[in-house]
Amino acid sequence: MNQTTNPVSVDKLLQDLENHIQGFQYGDSPFELYEPISYIMSLGGKRIRPLLTLMAYALYKDDYESILTPAAAVEVFHNFTLMHDDIMDDAPLRRGKVTVHEKWNANTAILSGDVMLVKAYGMLVDISPEKLPEILRLFNQTAAEVCEGQQHDMNFEQVENVTEEDYIDMIRQKTAVLLGFALQFGALLADAPKEEAQKLYDFGVNIGIGFQLKDDLLDVYADQAKFGKQVGGDIIANKKTFLLIKAKELAQGELKTQLEEWIAKDGFDKQEKVKAVTTIYDQIGIKELAEAKMQEYFKKSFDQYHSLHVPNLSGFKLLLELTQDLVHREK
Ligand code: IPE
Ligand code: IPE
Ligand code: MG
Ligand code: MG
Ligand code: MG
Repeated sequence: MNQTTNPVSVDKLLQDLENHIQGFQYGDSPFELYEPISYIMSLGGKRIRPLLTLMAYALYKDDYESILTPAAAVEVFHNFTLMHDDIMDDAPLRRGKVTVHEKWNANTAILSGDVMLVKAYGMLVDISPEKLPEILRLFNQTAAEVCEGQQHDMNFEQVENVTEEDYIDMIRQKTAVLLGFALQFGALLADAPKEEAQKLYDFGVNIGIGFQLKDDLLDVYADQAKFGKQVGGDIIANKKTFLLIKAKELAQGELKTQLEEWIAKDGFDKQEKVKAVTTIYDQIGIKELAEAKMQEYFKKSFDQYHSLHVPNLSGFKLLLELTQDLVHREK
């Protein structure tokens, strides 16, 4: 294993990553297929997943520039899931801009999303032949799990008795495994021992569960301008988030009746429903409960983190800081 000596900053990694993502040729003809890809890829976003890949790589090796394309593949895959997720969730806004299916139409978002998935795989082909089969196996497993989680998420909209355990398992699949994979991927590309890569995966999965809990909190409590997505989208769609599951469990008397009525109601005024359900959440103290649950998963991950044995201690510290920042993010 290479001993790493050069301290690397998150800003530098992000800048190199962004330049790579913007400079990458996704395709140009027909224009209608590729324009939405440039559109979504240029809207920014936190780039957390490829950043995790680069940071995991940098724990073991210095030359992270050599893996910018495979790291960007994880971001392209993520953006493919967002393009389709926004159709499924009927979302009007993404990263402060109109979603692809609203700017163009659903068929465009489906097909551009499909080709993004293909391009993401294409960005992996130059990985060394001795590593590629294992990485493809892991990537496939992750990608299928994301779809499985997304299907559970949609199924749960129609199910009344979704438990906290069902929910955690659903978000583990739709969100957390990709963060786990992103870290494991970086470590494997850097020739880290498989057990270390696996520990990074487990760490990433717990971070990912905390990350989705935070996303669900922001969906209700974010400042719309900073969040860049429609606040209240989960309430409108009866998404079985931790917040709704707990509220259903804890609401009593009049509050319980009101909550059940809002969930059952068709043809409501969206803003009115968001306001009413948020008020119910506030009366039960749901925000604090969800924050505590989120902290529980971040804490779990930080405990696992200390069992890692990486050569680059400053990189290790950076990764820890980055993941801690996710707890306080506003978007
Ligand atoms: C949004 O992901 C979808 C979730 C899994 C919560 P991000 O919160 O990483 O979105 P961007 O990429 O930064 O826009
Ligand atoms: C989406 O979860 C997870 C994936 C995209 C796979 P959400 O539906 O909560 O993500 P946002 O809030 O639209 O970004
Ligand atoms: Mg969504
Ligand atoms: Mg969704
Ligand atoms: Mg969300």
